[in-house]
Amino acid sequence: MDMTSTSTSSKLDRMLTMEMARVVEAAAVAAARERGQGDEKRADQVAVDAMRRELNNLPISGRIVIGEGERDEAPMLYIGEEVGSGGPEVDIALDPLEGTTICAKNQPNSLAVIAIAGRGNLLYAPDVYMEKIAIGPGYPEGTIDIDASPTDNLHAVARAKGCKVSEISTCVMDRSRHTELIAEIRKCGAAIRLIGDGDVAGIIHTTEPEETGIDLYMGIGGAPEGVLAAAALRCTGGQMQGRLILDTEEKEQRAARMGVTDPGKAYIMEEMASGDVLFAATGVTDGNMLKGVKFGRNGIMTHTVVMRSSSGTVRWINGLHSSTEKF
Ligand code: FBP
Repeated sequence: MDMTSTSTSSKLDRMLTMEMARVVEAAAVAAARERGQGDEKRADQVAVDAMRRELNNLPISGRIVIGEGERDEAPMLYIGEEVGSGGPEVDIALDPLEGTTICAKNQPNSLAVIAIAGRGNLLYAPDVYMEKIAIGPGYPEGTIDIDASPTDNLHAVARAKGCKVSEISTCVMDRSRHTELIAEIRKCGAAIRLIGDGDVAGIIHTTEPEETGIDLYMGIGGAPEGVLAAAALRCTGGQMQGRLILDTEEKEQRAARMGVTDPGKAYIMEEMASGDVLFAATGVTDGNMLKGVKFGRNGIMTHTVVMRSSSGTVRWINGLHSSTEKF
């Protein structure tokens, strides 16, 4: 669906962006009450419950394409679940608590995240790993290439930025699968920010390098998180490529059932999130771009970003919820 094809749908598109803020705020506040409690499952569950409740108030006929998992493993917000109170048919990618471990340990950059697009416009990515590479806006098209070596990508980014490789900072997940990648980046002399979890934030951080200190994201993380990050980058500008890691027959078949016909395909950002895309995220714990939820004397404070690809608008919303009943 082209959500901007008529003035009515354009208005809805604008209205929805703001309504989406309520959805991520509710999930973030619920999760924030569980910060540092060491219970990842519970933190995730309360975020799921809160997000689902708010989502069902949205004037959409929504279908979840990236959610909490397959129907048999996730009772709520499962892939294929229909949500919303009725309206335009849209596809939804969400993660009520991106970075469950981060939240359970009360460390930086856990988020509540949602992306909405027209039917068929978000990649139906199975819950497998994805190799990813991403940079923020302002670089010439084709600066990064998932098939090039990390060394070549680092040099290309440095050239395009007009600086030395040693002045480029790369974000990589701290995983043993990245031992070689990390060694190669260090050999090039570039800086690395190793993150324990939360690569949606890691990728979004490339869009504001002055703020976050991250120019380039490289490495392997979850495929669903890849689609969410691609949706955000579609709105802010930037470049991203991703390739599903289908290293067993079972994964290949699962991906095929979700419509993946070419298992080795490198997806560009526009193939992971196409058409008009809306994106919203609220910080759960304090992060480089979003502040975490604060429980204050006068109410609950939230920090949210909402974005629309059609207008390129990025809004930062500081919410003060003095009536805390709904939370
Ligand atoms: P959860 O929110 O489901 O805990 O995912 C956190 C996360 O760090 C993602 O950001 C990332 O894409 C994925 O896990 C990486 O998976 P793994 O922990 O298996 O390396």
